[in-house]
Amino acid sequence: MKKEQLIYEGKAKKIWSTLSPDLYISEFKDDLTAFNGEKKSNEKGKGALNNKISTALFRYLQKKGVPSHFVDMLDENHMLHKRADVILIEVIVRNIATGSLSRNLGIEDGKVLPFALVEFDYKDDELGDPKLNDQHCLILELVKDQSELDYLRYMARRINTLLQEFYAVRDLTLVDFKLEFGRDSDDNIILIDELSPDNFRLWDSNSGEKMDKDRFREGLGGLKVAYEEVLNRILMEK
Ligand SMILES: Nc1ncnc2c1ncn2[C@@H]1O[C@H](COP(=O)(O)OP(=O)(O)OP(=O)(O)O)[C@@H](O)[C@H]1O
Ligand SMILES: [Mg+2]
Repeated sequence: MKKEQLIYEGKAKKIWSTLSPDLYISEFKDDLTAFNGEKKSNEKGKGALNNKISTALFRYLQKKGVPSHFVDMLDENHMLHKRADVILIEVIVRNIATGSLSRNLGIEDGKVLPFALVEFDYKDDELGDPKLNDQHCLILELVKDQSELDYLRYMARRINTLLQEFYAVRDLTLVDFKLEFGRDSDDNIILIDELSPDNFRLWDSNSGEKMDKDRFREGLGGLKVAYEEVLNRILMEK
């Protein structure tokens, strides 16, 4: 399958059409952005690492019965996946308080939450991705009805449980992450986009070392080394 037309260029990926109307190709870029695009950089090889990490995690989740857009990894930087109509809700799952949750609600950084917190953000860069409650989602017609919101929450929690288990045996703690969902050509809601340390916070379970994009946000350096370590641990047979 070959790239045909550039459909969209985002901060982390280029999305290409193919000769099959139901299939797109994601090209993973080496660009890094944070704080809604205010901080920018480029790390050679980052795109390939995110593609490989996403591929491994999509494969794992598919084996566990989670429907997603993933079809195949084509080469270092390219993933073949289903085309979807993006649901403009960023579904965020948090197991440990940090980042904006700690800042906004004054919850101590690093506090283990009593249950997984699922949050919805409006996927709209111009508005700065504001928080949404269920009524906002319905008023904005981001989904058809309440049952779809319940389904997004259910899937997010299920994915969280599966990924927590997967990471725990690899000495990685899943702190929080962002998911995107879309509708495929049969109108099924499926998991889309990427599953990478650009969108996940992961801490080494022993040292507490940050293994994700916070290294870039906080100027800690060593981002690629950390992503390589995440990939190596993900590929370990357990
Ligand atoms: N299967 C899919 N079908 C159609 N669009 C998709 C699919 N998977 C992901 N996308 C969309 O493609 C784009 C990927 O680009 P990229 O990740 O670079 O976006 P972005 O600029 O980082 O935006 P954001 O910060 O909101 O992720 C996103 O808008 C994402 O919603
Ligand atoms: Mg993105």
